[in-house]
Formats: sequence, structure tokens, C-alpha cells
Amino acid sequence: MTTEAKPRIFSGVQPTGNIHLGNYLGAFRNWVALQDDYDTIYCIVDLHAMTVDYDPAELERERIDTAKVLMALGVDPERSLLYTQSQVPAHAELAWILGTMTPMGVLGRMTQYKDKTARGERADLGLFSYPVLMAADILLYRANLVPIGDDQRQHMEMTRDLAERFNNRFGEVFPIPEAYIPETSARVMSLTEPHNKMSKSDEQERSRIAVLDDADVIRKRIRSAVTDSDPEVRYDVEAKPGISNLLEIMSATTGRSIDDLVAEYAHSGYGVFKDAVAEAVVEELAPYRETYRSLSNGDVRAVLHDGGTKANELAAPYEREVRKAVGIKGY
Ligand code: AMP
Ligand code: TRP
Repeated sequence: MTTEAKPRIFSGVQPTGNIHLGNYLGAFRNWVALQDDYDTIYCIVDLHAMTVDYDPAELERERIDTAKVLMALGVDPERSLLYTQSQVPAHAELAWILGTMTPMGVLGRMTQYKDKTARGERADLGLFSYPVLMAADILLYRANLVPIGDDQRQHMEMTRDLAERFNNRFGEVFPIPEAYIPETSARVMSLTEPHNKMSKSDEQERSRIAVLDDADVIRKRIRSAVTDSDPEVRYDVEAKPGISNLLEIMSATTGRSIDDLVAEYAHSGYGVFKDAVAEAVVEELAPYRETYRSLSNGDVRAVLHDGGTKANELAAPYEREVRKAVGIKGY
């Protein structure tokens, strides 16, 4: 290649609906910001979404809708490759290859797997090997950086280990990718149970703010966020998880430091503070709702169709290199 290559970014999101403020502040805001300086690839990981109980018709819909939300948030198909995982069979093939070098013990220690099975998900092979497919997503394109929230840290570590293991055995094929995790808001917490992370799958809708929620819903959710009975606004994750979470959210949406916010709101009372947090979130999210409405499903389908074609073209030589290294090159 003669053109100077920008470092490559890869990240993924499951098409499971309810894209929330945690997804946005933890990951998608970075996806958008990094588009100019990096070669960005963003994937809707529908094969991953099949590892928990799901409805096929809904998956079909959610793939389009997730892409639409991402585009509304600013993922720009002119600057980023946007497609769905199932369009590129090489993801699954590489996952198989990497699976042949993944110890069961390592997978058994993955906290996301343990959490999901503890919540009653079936402990099947797909759910168990979920992190191997994630490693394949990243390594297939030789990504250097992976913008994600804090909950994906352990999967990233495993991805790096697998890349090293592969390289040691078969030669230097994969660069070792790094996680790109924001300093504040890498782990936005539930508004109703601030010891748990904000999650798409939480049955309580009040626990999260969807990125497309309207201003009134956002205000209501933040006003009713669970806090504590001590009236001081101060950052203390152990003693004041609810208030600390709101401070992080406000810091991330306004760009002001937590110290600065504490200096202003320490003694203003929770009501005044919550109103300020709500307004900051409303202001941040309002434009996205408009853009979302302006996009049609047809436009989104066309983007994914095109993205899938390009992703396959990009993946093919990389996957040939892997096949050659492991001894299964074509004839
Ligand atoms: P998922 O919805 O699980 O596919 O996650 C998409 C992205 O959002 C991943 O990079 C996650 O790490 C990130 N994420 C999910 N939940 C949160 C949260 N509560 N706070 C911050 N980031 C999150
Ligand atoms: N496991 C990630 C999540 O739940 C989604 C994902 C799949 C991903 N493949 C990826 C994220 C590759 C980053 C890179 O959020």
C-alpha cells in the first residue's frame, strides 16, 4: 500500500434495542469522534445477539433500527464502514480457528458469561464462546484500537491474549489491539439500582434513559433517580452511588469536571442538582431524535448492503493470510 494508513478502529454493538445513555457515553460518542483520525469499522453484531433467547422477527427489525440510531448519533457511512456481522462469513470462520486455541477455563472466568447464566440464560456453546467471536471480529480486520465501555475490558484482555497465542504459534499475523475506554462515564449506572450498570436488558425501563427518549421522559427519569438521604452533592461511589452516577453523567455531557460540578452543587439540594443534570442530558440528546426521524429504513438497508460488500472485500485477503498461516489455504 502506498497511502499512509491511519490506525484502524473496530467496534461492535448488539442489535438488541434500547440503546441508552450508557452505550452513548461509554462507547458510541467515541465511535463518532474517532471517525476523522482513524480508519473506522463499526459492526452490528447480530450473531452475538443470537446467544441469548431472541425473536427472529425482532432481530431483523433491531438490526435496521440499531444502524439507524448509530447513524442518527453521527456514525457516517461516508467515513466509516457500517455493516452487520452475519454479512461477512469470515467472522464465524475466524472464531472457529481462534476457538481451537481458547482454553475452556478462560471462558469460564468471563464475568459477562457468569452474570448472564446467573440471570437464567441457557449455558450453551454460543453464549460460552461469545468472547471468541468478539476476538475474531476485532482481529479479522487487524484493528489497533477498540472503543468500548468498561464492561468489555475483560473480553478485550482475552482478545489480546488470543492474538499473542496465535502469533506465537503461527507467526506475526495480528497486531495486538488496545481498548479505548473513556475516563468518565465508562460505566454509567442504573438510575434505579445505582450499584448495577445501566443495561438494555433491565426490565425496569425507569432504570435507563434511551438515547431517543423525549425531554419529558428524560426529566422524569432523572428526577426519580435513586439517590440517598444525605443532602450533600459529592462524589463518593461507595457511599453515594446514585449521586456519583449523576455527577459522571453531567460531567460527560457538559465537559465540566466533577470537582467543578461539586463546587457548584454541593449544597444546592438534590432537586436543583437533578434538574441541572436533566437539562444537560436533554440538550445533549435532543438533536439525535430529529436526525433519527429523518432517516428511512430503506436508506439504512442500502448503507448496510453496501457496507457488507465492502467489509467482505476488506476481510478476504486478511482471512486468506490466516488460512495460510494455520495450514488450510485454498487450492
Ligand atoms: P452492548 O449494548 O452490550 O452491545 O454495548 C455496546 C457498547 O456500549 C459497548 O462498548 C459497551 O461496553 C457499552 N456499554 C454498555 N452498557 C454501558 C454502560 N452502562 N456504561 C457505559 N458503557 C456501556
Ligand atoms: N461484546 C460487545 C458488547 O456486548 C459487542 C461486541 C461484539 C464488540 N464484537 C465486538 C465490541 C468487537 C467491540 C469489538 O458490547
